[in-house]
This record gives sequence, structure tokens and C-alpha cells, in this order.
Amino acid sequence: MFSKELVTLAGLALVVPQVWAGFSSSSNKNVAVYWGQNSRNQATSQTRLADYCSNSEIDIIPLAFLNVIVNPTTVNFANAGDNCTTFPNSNLLSCPQIEQDIKTCQSTYGKTILLSIGGATYTEGGFTSASQATTWADNIWAMFGPVQSGSSLHRPFGSAVVDGFDFDFETTTSNMAPFAERLRSNMDAATAAGAKKFYLSAAPQCVFPDAADHEMLDSSARFDFVMIQFYNNWCGASNFVQGSSTQNAFNFDVWDNWAKTTSANPNVRLLLGLPANSGAGGGYVSGSQLDAVIAYSKQYSSFGGVMLWDMSQLYANPGFLDSVVSALGNSGGGSNPPSPPKTTLTTVTRTTTTKSGTSPTGSLVPQWGQCGGQGYTGSTQCQPPYKCVSQSVWWAQCQ
Ligand SMILES: *[C@@H]1O[C@H](CO)[C@@H](O)[C@H](O)[C@H]1NC(C)=O
Repeated sequence: MFSKELVTLAGLALVVPQVWAGFSSSSNKNVAVYWGQNSRNQATSQTRLADYCSNSEIDIIPLAFLNVIVNPTTVNFANAGDNCTTFPNSNLLSCPQIEQDIKTCQSTYGKTILLSIGGATYTEGGFTSASQATTWADNIWAMFGPVQSGSSLHRPFGSAVVDGFDFDFETTTSNMAPFAERLRSNMDAATAAGAKKFYLSAAPQCVFPDAADHEMLDSSARFDFVMIQFYNNWCGASNFVQGSSTQNAFNFDVWDNWAKTTSANPNVRLLLGLPANSGAGGGYVSGSQLDAVIAYSKQYSSFGGVMLWDMSQLYANPGFLDSVVSALGNSGGGSNPPSPPKTTLTTVTRTTTTKSGTSPTGSLVPQWGQCGGQGYTGSTQCQPPYKCVSQSVWWAQCQ
């Protein structure tokens, strides 16, 4: 990755070495990979955070997830949680190893480390009022932002300070806009007072508008980047039609239009979210389909790179990250000649499906949730009275 944040080694007067990494709002080659959920779900498939930070092809690592916001606040990092303890009289994890690794990833490798809030197991539904939302935005900021002397709140990552927050709500929430707006203003106030730059991102599903996240996405909170899940849904990358200037299913154009006309930050970067392996989500793409969907998306000026779910799946799929980076680096060509962006709105059905691998297995899938398709590993049983209906080789849903 190029033209990224300059990282200096503390204590040295000289700027050595020059490490170019981290999110860049002027780059269309950002690569984000989620860590924490061990979606591959094998004991050895997720190791500690710092093990991945020397990978120069990765710029952004969202830590997944803070899955309970309102007291008792809970972080969940699958098997990485085994290396944490809990604070006294609390369920909250204390994770000195992650604390140490966040610092290493930031200072040695220049990575942008976000705390991702939400996930498939988040069930609070947001906040009962705007004032409860702002109270918890302040608390989350005190727990994961710059250390505040005098705060009695526990800090799961100790003195490590994340580079910002990612929102990944997958069910409908209330009062999420004031939560996002307050976090953003806390971040901006700290930066104005001399702290580093902080980032806000979100990971909606490609279905537009995203039922869970659209309230905050359309709020006055400025998002730096949005990592759209182009999988598990009809609008995903697997339904991109190579060589066609009109896309009936794949809807990057609709999100590009949102970025330019609705987003509080008209320069918001949109990342193409993809499964990192065939088992990581419905609609895995590779080879010429991967190259073509990236080449097509790159023609939109809001395009900012690729997001992959998740690290454990990526590292079990050798060569895939190289092919993503190489497609990002190629300036067009391939089998899909660039065509003028269109503005046709695509009508698609909202699903409540979660990322594969994060939903409890054996549970009943709600209406519109995914219950089958190539690569899908979750529950195939629908809540009554719905039946599992196949839509494509990639996708079956409860309806
Ligand atoms: C837990 O800690 C051990 C010892 O440092 C490390 O090797 C391992 O990768 C850690 N596991 C996770 C999932 O972070």
C-alpha cells in the first residue's frame, strides 16, 4: 500500500523506518480484514492479533465485536477471549495481550485498528432514548478512546487507544444516530485538542437502504468509510454479471449515489465487502469474477478498496489476499470494460441474515434469513411457518 500514514518509531529523532499502512481517504486500495470472531471456527484458525499485523497487504483491522453496549458492556473475541481475564465483579473481559498487540500493530506496522460494535449476537436493539445513547457513547469513548484520568470505567484494552469505531448492526436498532453522532463529536474534539485522527466506519449489508444501519448512515455523523457486505444477499458480488454495463442485482452504483447525495461526508470511501473464503459467507467470488467485480467497482469515485470477512477464513485460503491486492492494483482492462455509472435503483428484498459463522448453529432462521446455498454453514431450519426456498446456487432463504 502506498501514500499512507507516516509512522515514526517513538524515541528516535529520525523517521525510520517508513511504514506505509493504515486507512487512507485518498486511496482506492484500502484493505480491511475483520479479526476476532474466528469465523472458520477451528481452534488453530485464529491466533493473536499481532500475528497478522506484519502483513503489509492489510491496512485496517476491525476487532469484532463489542456485542453488548449498555452495562454490562461485553467484548467477544471467540478463542482470543481465552487469553483474557475478567475484571472483578464483572463479565467484562480484560485483555492485556490484545492491549499489547494493538500497540504493536499501530506503532510498528501503522495499522488502523477499529473496535467493531454489534455483530450477529448483538440483541439490545439500540437505546431507549437519545440521552441513553449519548451517555453510552461517552462511556464507550472513555473505555476505548484516550485514557481519561478520573474515569472509573474498566478498559478492556488497558492503555491501548483504538483508532476509531465500526458499526455492524444486523438487526433493527433505535436511537443509533445520536450514538454515532456523539462518538463522532468526541473523536473530533479529541483530534482538535491534539490527539491522533480517529475514524468511524460501518458495515451495512448491500441491500439498500440497510434496515439496521441506515438511520446512523443518514445521520449527521461523518463516516470515513463504509464496508458494504456484498455477500449473503442477492445484491452481492456473486451476482455481478461480467461484461454487462447494467447490473440488475449487484448495486455498488446505488451506494455510490448514497455517498455523493446523502452521506454527511461526501468523500466517504466505500469498501467492497467480500467473503474471504468459500465458507465465510454466501456468495464467495474468486478468479475472473473477483477481478471483474473489483474492476467494475473501481470506476466509481467513492470506491475505497476491499473488506474481507474474516481473518481466520482468509488465512485458510492461501493466495486470495494476493489476488485481491493485485486486482486493486490493476487499472482496468480484464473482461469488463468500464462503463458509465448508471443510476437505476435496484429493488431487492431485505434479509436479516447474519454473517455466516457468527450465528449460533442449530438455531431457527427467521423470515428472509439465509438457510442454504454453496458455502453456507449455518442453520438450515426456518422458524415456523417459513420454508427454506432456494434462490440460486449461492443463496436459499426462509420465506
Ligand atoms: C493466546 O495466547 C497465545 C500465547 O501468547 C498465543 O500463541 C495465541 O495465538 C493466543 N490466541 C489467540 C486466539 O489470540
